[in-house]
Amino acid sequence: MTTPIDKPVAIVTGAGRGLGREHALALAHAGWAVLVNDLGGAGDGTGSDPTAAEQVVAEIVAMGGSALVDGSDVSNWAAAGEMIERAVSAWGRLDGLVNNAGILRDRTIANMTEEDWDLSIAVNLKGTAAPLHHAASYWRRRSKETGEPVKASVVNTSSASGLYSAFGQSNYAAAKAGVASLTLVAARELARSGVRVNAIAPVATTRLTESVMPEASRARWDPSLVSPMVVYLLSDAAGDISGRVFEVGGDGVVAVDMHRPIAGMRAADGKWTAKRLEPVVPGLVDQLAPQMDSASASQFLRGAPLEGE
Ligand SMILES: NC(=O)c1ccc[n+]([C@@H]2O[C@H](COP(=O)([O-])OP(=O)(O)OC[C@H]3O[C@@H](n4cnc5c(N)ncnc54)[C@H](O)[C@@H]3O)[C@@H](O)[C@H]2O)c1
Repeated sequence: MTTPIDKPVAIVTGAGRGLGREHALALAHAGWAVLVNDLGGAGDGTGSDPTAAEQVVAEIVAMGGSALVDGSDVSNWAAAGEMIERAVSAWGRLDGLVNNAGILRDRTIANMTEEDWDLSIAVNLKGTAAPLHHAASYWRRRSKETGEPVKASVVNTSSASGLYSAFGQSNYAAAKAGVASLTLVAARELARSGVRVNAIAPVATTRLTESVMPEASRARWDPSLVSPMVVYLLSDAAGDISGRVFEVGGDGVVAVDMHRPIAGMRAADGKWTAKRLEPVVPGLVDQLAPQMDSASASQFLRGAPLEGE
């Protein structure tokens, strides 16, 4: 067995460019050894090229850090397992996993092809579940061996599109909503083993968003501004924070409360009929007025004050 390296070890998926690259560099700056995973394809998931990930590894090594390249396709269950194994056999430990790899195949549901649907779900959702599964089994094994909870942390990448819905992104939004739900379930399942699981919904100028970001505001959404939250959530300083979803971008961080029941009503004689529901359901829906709706969350990230601020 490899003698464990004297620093925490993280895997960042999709770390060849964009947000993942910044997360990998920020973690290396914070003293982590980083497995830099990237398939290196285009923004729609086609093709592959190891160059970008190799460059990130070279940058980390040049600044005196520890990094290794990994070209696994995270949507391949077995390859994701080999990626986890690569980090553990190289450095003897694994402390953090940042599931960041993602692609876009934007289509309305009416125009969706089966390939667009399958690839988006494969990379964005299965590509989060597969590394998480293999890391979780590794950590559970470790925890059983030592008789103590491990101290490990996972950050998954959701999206405002999945949390609040976005026109034309039915496949992507479904996958990213799935990532948020997976985060909550995994946080509950892995708590006993000492693993925290959170998700971020980032806002950043990258090749995926450049075309919709006005030129003047691109610097404000530099992807490096998201990475401190990832470093924080991976670190022990995050205490017991787990099962949470945060929107992060520019100078803003927003805590998102998901899937919380807001309003309910019981049938007067123990049974609803469709007719009796008619006057009731609109009233329930009216009570759903959230504390901070998706529009105000996005406006807050873009600089508007919160109500009462
Ligand atoms: N940029 C934003 O504003 C924004 C908003 C919401 C969510 N996101 C999410 O943030 C994450 C990073 O996106 P980004 O904007 O930096 O885009 P990006 O295209 O710059 O980076 C994504 C990286 O993932 C890699 N990748 C894609 N498929 C892969 C696979 N199967 N296996 C391994 N690597 C793979 C790509 O090669 C690429 O380097 C994605 O999950 C994206 O959905 C981004």
